[in-house]
This record gives sequence, structure tokens and C-alpha cells, in this order.
Amino acid sequence: MSAYDGATLGERMANHYGGSTEHLYGVLLRDLAADWERGGVVREILAGREDAPPGDMVQLRLLAGIHRIVLRGDAPELASFYPSVGGTADRYAVWSALEPVLRAHVAELRGALDVAPQTNEVGRSIALLTGLSEAVRRSGIRSVRLLEPGASAGLNLLVDRFRFEGDGWDAGPDNAHLVLDGCGAPGFLPESFEVVERRGCDLDPFDATTAEGEAYLRSFIWPHMPGRDGRLVAALATLREHPVVIDRAPAAEWVQDQLAVPAPDGVLTVVWHSITRQYWPAAEYAAMLAAIDEARSRMPLVRVALEDPTPLPTSGTWQPQVEVDDDVIAHCTYHGPPLNLTYTGPEVTQ
Ligand SMILES: C[S@@+](CC[C@H](N)C(=O)[O-])C[C@H]1O[C@@H](n2cnc3c(N)ncnc32)[C@H](O)[C@@H]1O
Repeated sequence: MSAYDGATLGERMANHYGGSTEHLYGVLLRDLAADWERGGVVREILAGREDAPPGDMVQLRLLAGIHRIVLRGDAPELASFYPSVGGTADRYAVWSALEPVLRAHVAELRGALDVAPQTNEVGRSIALLTGLSEAVRRSGIRSVRLLEPGASAGLNLLVDRFRFEGDGWDAGPDNAHLVLDGCGAPGFLPESFEVVERRGCDLDPFDATTAEGEAYLRSFIWPHMPGRDGRLVAALATLREHPVVIDRAPAAEWVQDQLAVPAPDGVLTVVWHSITRQYWPAAEYAAMLAAIDEARSRMPLVRVALEDPTPLPTSGTWQPQVEVDDDVIAHCTYHGPPLNLTYTGPEVTQ
């Protein structure tokens, strides 16, 4: 039993989707949890991870490791169950194809557990667009230096090269590779802005412009969501045309170093982060906030985020929130659209 939430690893796997088996990953986690309970090969693969914090999402790390084996073509029978590679077999029969793959790749799958989920989810750029629009409104500055700690491959740093379509509004270039439709949010007024500098950091950056890097990123997309996979592939085409620099560094130290460099006059610095805070030690987040607060006296600066409302998931009902400094201005899903605007601006006092 974990010291964090009173649940065993097996229970966390079984409950990840609320016990639902309506898609392949629901069935896989149910079957993986059952094997863990009976002390099978899953127990061997996950040995030593029993007390991992829930935010580490050990179960998603394992699923991504299995998906990588499928994507590279090393498990043809198992692949017949994966919609991401065209599989259509009955998901309820997946265990007999999965177990031999687990047994054949124990060392590789144990290694996969060391890698924090790198779900570089480009749908989250709708939160960045929303936060940037609010930041531009507040500062009156449209030239932006964009800094992203925990950026994975840095795809969301290309926010100005994506197209967004909502209820009664749109934004971004007409010829964008990536079109995010279904953004909702009637009444949203996107502001125009120009990204004059962009840079990110990650503990484990990698080059997503290579075939290997692309397969690696795709392994974190749930295989029953081909729409998300299509968005990722479109964003990767954008990245190949407009590569971004991602430094290997922990978030707080890197933000501090970046903010030590003055931004050009008339440029707004925006520190943006999404679905990464839960993986940082609490002291790291506090140190990043302190670095941001210190730098505010030297430059116009706004923090924009899409993050869990609390460090630990407590129920399946809440949604990640869009933060602009201390304000929560909107909500959306873990994968982005639709956007739900909740902020009506500061109260005017007379
Ligand atoms: C779930 S991914 C989210 C990636 C990206 N922000 C997005 O929303 O698409 C979390 C990322 O945070 C990175 N990460 C975790 N802890 C970190 C830390 N202390 N400093 C920098 N990056 C970190 C991981 O390597 C991973 O790429």
C-alpha cells in the first residue's frame, strides 16, 4: 500500500480510468493490474516502484513502453489490438497477446519506467493562446519572449504557427499544418502577438525531428485516440520547418538562468508550463516562482500555465486550469479543447 494515497500500485492501475474498459487502455490496465495482483510478470517489471508517488504515473510509463514495442513492429500479434497501427481485434482478448510481449521485454520495460511521461500534447496550446491573449491585454505588449520549462520536445512553443477554431472566433495562420478545431469558448477574443524568441528546457529533451524521436513521442499518445496522434504528426511537421531549442535542465534553475538575461526593450517575457508541475519537487516550483517574482522588477513578465488544480488527483471530475499569474482564467481538458472561459477580469472599484 502506498504512503501517498492508501492505494496499491495494482489498485491505481485498475482505477486509472475509473475501472472503465471502454477502450484498449482500460482493458490493458485492468489486465495488467490483475497480473500484478497474482504476482505475474507485471509484478516483476514493476518491482521497486510500489511506493512511487501517484503523480509519477507508473502505469502510463509502462503503457508507453509497451506502445513503443508495438509502434516499431516488434509485436505483430499485439499490434492487431492497437488502433494506432490499424488494429481492430477484440480488446477483451488482448491478454494472451500481451503476456508473451511482457515476458520477452522485461528489461526494456523496466527501463521505460525511468522515463517521466513525455506526452507533448499540442492541444494544450489552446491554453497558451488564451493565457498569452490575457497577458497581452494586461501588459499592452505584443512582442513576446516565450520560455517553457518542462517543454518535452517543445511543440507548444510553436503556438503562433498553429491554427485555432472556436465558436465564433479563430486565430493563427490559414496555412498551418495543425488546425485545432472544436475550441469552443464563445466570446473569446484572441489577441495578436509576435513571438520574437522561444526556448524551452526539460529533464529529458530529445530531438523530435528524427524518426526515432517521432516514434518516441507517439508512444505516449493513447492508441485509441487517433485524432490526437494526427495532431501530433501535424505539429511535428511544423517543428521540422521551425526547430526550437530545448536545453537539458531542471525547471527552476533554468528559468532563473533565462531570466538573468534581460529581454530586449518592449518585449514581454512569458514563462509557460503545462502538465509538468506535478512531476517537480515542491521546492522546485517554489524556487521558480521566487525567480519569477525577483525578475518582475527588471522586466515585464507573466506566468501562464495549464496545470492540475492540486498536486494530486483526488477525483475524476475536475479539469486542468489555465493560470495567468495568480488568476485562474479558464479550464480545458488534459488534451486541450474545448476551452471554457471562467475569468471575467478584475473587479472595477470606484
Ligand atoms: C507530461 S509532460 C508535459 C510536456 C509538455 N509541457 C506538454 O504539456 O505537452 C511532462 C514533462 O515535464 C518534464 N519534467 C518533469 N520534471 C521536470 C523538472 N523538474 N524540470 C524540467 N522538466 C521536468 C518531463 O521530462 C516531461 O517532458
